[in-house]
Amino acid sequence: MRILLSGATGQLGRALHGNLTRLGEVSAPTRAAFDLAVEESVRQTLDALRPDLIVNAAAYTAVDRAEEERDAAQQINARAPAIMAKWAAAHGSAILHYSTDYVFDGKGRTPWKESDQTDPVNAYGATKRAGEIAIAESGAAHLIVRTSWLYDAQGANFARTILRLARERSELRIIDDQIGAPTPAWWLAEASIRILQQFGDGILFEGRRGGPLHAAPEGTTSWYGFAMAIIDGARERAMPLSVEKIVPIPTSEYPTPAARPEFSVFDLSRLRTEFEISPPHWRDALAPVLDDIAGKAQNS
Ligand SMILES: NC(=O)c1ccc[n+]([C@@H]2O[C@H](COP(=O)([O-])OP(=O)(O)OC[C@H]3O[C@@H](n4cnc5c(N)ncnc54)[C@H](OP(=O)(O)O)[C@@H]3O)[C@@H](O)[C@H]2O)c1
Repeated sequence: MRILLSGATGQLGRALHGNLTRLGEVSAPTRAAFDLAVEESVRQTLDALRPDLIVNAAAYTAVDRAEEERDAAQQINARAPAIMAKWAAAHGSAILHYSTDYVFDGKGRTPWKESDQTDPVNAYGATKRAGEIAIAESGAAHLIVRTSWLYDAQGANFARTILRLARERSELRIIDDQIGAPTPAWWLAEASIRILQQFGDGILFEGRRGGPLHAAPEGTTSWYGFAMAIIDGARERAMPLSVEKIVPIPTSEYPTPAARPEFSVFDLSRLRTEFEISPPHWRDALAPVLDDIAGKAQNS
């Protein structure tokens, strides 16, 4: 099976790259060779590589900047996936795409099911939702894995920002009224491979087993709860920290250009029952990432 992976330099793409080679021959062109902002680049790469499976881990992920750069976000998050999916439909290929909890408005307190009404509260979420719709309407065999609060030992993410701030400052003020499930890239990559292994070669994700799928660890927390777990874990690993006080604050005390959903918890029933994947608790899933960061710090 020929696999085309986009976004291989990102958090998820890096974690997927090595694992995907267990399933087939992987091409992972960089942005220079496969630029999702340039439609011709997308078409040319697809025609040249003729993948059986497109794994689209690339995205415009700068949530606040997307408010100002909506067109760029739309091109990368919606238009490029639409082209990929149409190409897949025309060539009998399949697409595994990633999306976000930000397609929901975050109102209410019931975990979001795949079938729930979407209503993004920011430009990033709207462009990601437009990408989902384009893929669903393309006629391609597809699976859209929605995840939340993605982080890794590398890349720009909340866990690494908290560790940096905890080294630099004595006090941190962290939002405590947005609720979700932090998802490490290593686990999402492993879950993705297990899902792909259930299909094998040939046409993937057809009929009942396509569509959107929610994937995140078990349990929920706030950004404050996540920050506390990161800092406790860093202390256990003897990482040098200056922070003494961590203060929970409401979203209203930390205004950002883009609004965020308050409640981003997924219903994971589909992942468990149809794909037989039991996610770890988010606290357990954090430990390997902290081990990785602590190991890198010791070796640097
Ligand atoms: N981060 C989160 O908290 C989060 C939460 C929920 C869902 N998601 C979704 O999960 C998926 C993976 O996110 P991530 O956090 O791994 O992303 P990331 O670390 O920000 O990486 C984004 C990747 O996309 C590539 N990319 C951006 N613009 C591109 C372009 N014009 N052409 C080609 N490649 C381009 C980047 O390449 P360069 O290295 O060249 O920039 C990078 O490899 C995305 O679909 C995202 O929407 C993320």
